[in-house]
Amino acid sequence: MTLLVTGGAGFIGANFVLDWLAQHGEPVVNLDKLTYAGNLETLASLEGDARHTFVQGDIGDFALVSRLLAEHRPRAVVNFAAESHVDRSIHGPGEFIQTNIVGTFQLLEAVRAHWGSLSADEKAAFRFLHVSTDEVYGSLAKDDPAFTEAHRYEPNSPYSASKAASDHLVRAYHHTYGLPVLTTNCSNNYGPFHFPEKLIPLMIVNALAGKPLPVYGDGMQVRDWLYVKDHCSAIRRVLQAGRLGEVYNVGGWNEKPNIEIVHTVCALLDELRPRADGQPYASQISYVTDRPGHDRRYAIDARRLEAELGWKPAETFESGIRKTVQWYLDNPQWVAHVQSGAYREWVGKQYSDTPAVAA
Ligand code: NAD
Ligand code: TYD
Repeated sequence: MTLLVTGGAGFIGANFVLDWLAQHGEPVVNLDKLTYAGNLETLASLEGDARHTFVQGDIGDFALVSRLLAEHRPRAVVNFAAESHVDRSIHGPGEFIQTNIVGTFQLLEAVRAHWGSLSADEKAAFRFLHVSTDEVYGSLAKDDPAFTEAHRYEPNSPYSASKAASDHLVRAYHHTYGLPVLTTNCSNNYGPFHFPEKLIPLMIVNALAGKPLPVYGDGMQVRDWLYVKDHCSAIRRVLQAGRLGEVYNVGGWNEKPNIEIVHTVCALLDELRPRADGQPYASQISYVTDRPGHDRRYAIDARRLEAELGWKPAETFESGIRKTVQWYLDNPQWVAHVQSGAYREWVGKQYSDTPAVAA
């Protein structure tokens, strides 16, 4: 029995592969294009592990995916591969359309053809799990109830619109062709191996480097944070027992305004790695021009997953964020290596376009 994981060199996919192989004997074929966000160093601990086969390639490459399916005959495909950063989608939506929509379509086509060739028993056991985001539901007002799976799709960024399109394709392949799909829509993840273009790792990395901590707008946008390993356990559970064609929202009941997150990170660094001059890291906070079309609030209602499949997150935000900050302090080499020329180019471009504003 084998699993085909796509995007398994990225933040969540790599955490998933590492946890999966730590807990199961089942081999993983890991298909990843290795864009700027994919990093084989994250998977270094699997070197020499015969259960992990890494293949560099594109989910949109029908011939390659078909070959991998025929060769390895996985019992499931777990699709993490995507362009994932909202700010990048604002600067250049093209790659998001290509990978998230066209790529998912080609992947579904290859999987559909393969699934059609299986025996009745294999067909019944097969799963295609699509990993998606709460951002497809749009933005909530302050007192709105959290997103349920029945919330209408109202994506606001090129990223969320492209993910929404992929979700619709996955749904259609179930409805039309009977493909045994499962979809998970998760809130913001954080944890080890998170690329430092996203809020939490960017704040940790910038704080330690003595750089400004850029908070967009008034910093009162709310996100619902989930420790990445809890997301991975939710995916394992949905893969094991989710109802076919069903959607499961995944969240940690941890709604927090961005500015509170930044202060929490600063306070942990003050405790664990105080600045040489004794000043608090919070003095580096710099309010910058807001993101265009910035969604105000996301919040996930994860009751379906809890009630039907008995899943609950293991970490509180307090325990998860402490582990995360400690991980970045313990792994300066990983951080240094991902801060390549391409990373520096992005940070230079993004934060020169978002100048500091008076607090
Ligand atoms: P990431 O950007 O860290 O990693 C994406 C991975 O996909 C990278 O390794 C990249 O090389 C690979 N990839 C990109 N295009 C590809 C292609 N065409 N073919 C094959 N591989 C390709 O993203 P992440 O944060 O790990 O997110 C994983 C998935 O989870 C995405 O689908 C994302 O939409 C979803 N998601 C993320 C979050 C979050 O907070 N990070 C929250 C909810 C849902
Ligand atoms: P991000 O990590 O990019 O995730 P997403 O946009 O998918 O939610 O951003 C999380 C929140 O943090 C979002 O409201 C934007 C904000 N943010 C900043 O204030 N400053 C930053 O430098 C970044 C990258 C994000």
